[in-house]
Amino acid sequence: MAIVERLRKKFRELYGQEPIVVAAPGRVNLIGEHTDYNEGFVLPGAVDKRMYVAIAAVSEPAITIYANQFKESFTFNPEESLQPVSGWMNYLLGVTHHIKAAGKTVGGAQVLIDGDIPVGAGMSSSAALCSAYGFALNELFNLGLSRMELAFIGQKTEHTFVGVKCGIMDQFASLHGKKGHVMKLDCRSLEYEYIPFDFPDHKIVLVNSMVTHSLAGSEYNVRRQQCEEGVSIIRKSYPAIKSLRDVKLEMLQQHQHDMSSVVFDRCWYVVTEEERLISGCDALQHGDLDTFGKLMIATHNGLSKQYAVSCTQLDFLAERAGFIEGVVGSRMMGGGFGGCTINIVHTEMVDSFREKIQKSFEGLFKVTPEVYVTQIEDGTHVVNSEVFS
Ligand code: GLA
Repeated sequence: MAIVERLRKKFRELYGQEPIVVAAPGRVNLIGEHTDYNEGFVLPGAVDKRMYVAIAAVSEPAITIYANQFKESFTFNPEESLQPVSGWMNYLLGVTHHIKAAGKTVGGAQVLIDGDIPVGAGMSSSAALCSAYGFALNELFNLGLSRMELAFIGQKTEHTFVGVKCGIMDQFASLHGKKGHVMKLDCRSLEYEYIPFDFPDHKIVLVNSMVTHSLAGSEYNVRRQQCEEGVSIIRKSYPAIKSLRDVKLEMLQQHQHDMSSVVFDRCWYVVTEEERLISGCDALQHGDLDTFGKLMIATHNGLSKQYAVSCTQLDFLAERAGFIEGVVGSRMMGGGFGGCTINIVHTEMVDSFREKIQKSFEGLFKVTPEVYVTQIEDGTHVVNSEVFS
């Protein structure tokens, strides 16, 4: 049975009324990794794996949430001051808190959450949850928040309730996705452009390393600090510089001996990734997937060696993919430390790619990596009669 129908049925069983259902997608990012919090560009697209929030209002000031994936429920009073706890509830508490902080009134509600985005796989299940829940409250209580405001609410939730100092890419992508298009987002000005991903002969295929990552408390925040450290050193000679977005390779090289080799490597990766993104967009717009694939491989090498956010399993997957027929490019995707590789694979070779990559990974790591053949879909929306399977 389709997931939305299952959700509606479960909601009726739990709460005895009809909900509004909101779907928010996870995302892929074609190129431009760890550039968002450096005020650079990213190139994400929303995918056909989603978090769903079913919601209906109640008169008393209580929000009751049942998370179907965890079989757990949680109730809080939205009128009270909300503090972080632990676990998945933090996303809901954080979004409610930041909606209130934006001057909006949140009433009582019954909520049911479910989804098919693998958790910890680098596909932004947490951003999708925040987007779905924020969007659902916005609809239910007519709060008048824009998609961009909801994206910032999700990001602030990660910063303040979860402890991950993430950029804006994931929340933005989940809320602004457009079927068949990736989004070139300028993370400084927040201007964005939809670029068609129109390659019928190719698929975007994710391979899950099965190493689940949590960015909270991880090296993710350390990377951000290292980038800021590099900027503060370069700024001594170039006071106009605000972030790595403004730094050219020559400036960085000029200051190589003023910073640790680790900080230099981190900055080197980010500055070159900016260049790769610009070349990558150009290649996509000219239908040149071969060039794009080479850039993906260079991104993986940078993420693995200079930025040091990969892991053995991801390195293996990216390298092995390079030897499989029909693969145009492969790299680790997202924050890192686990999660998926993103691969562009010739449509006719997808089945043999799946078979080969699973077999060789199993041989080495004794676990079968999940493979997701994705479609680029629309961003967060209310689900009416349409049914996703
Ligand atoms: C995570 C973060 C994003 C971004 C990516 C890396 O997904 O949430 O903001 O920094 O990592 O590109």
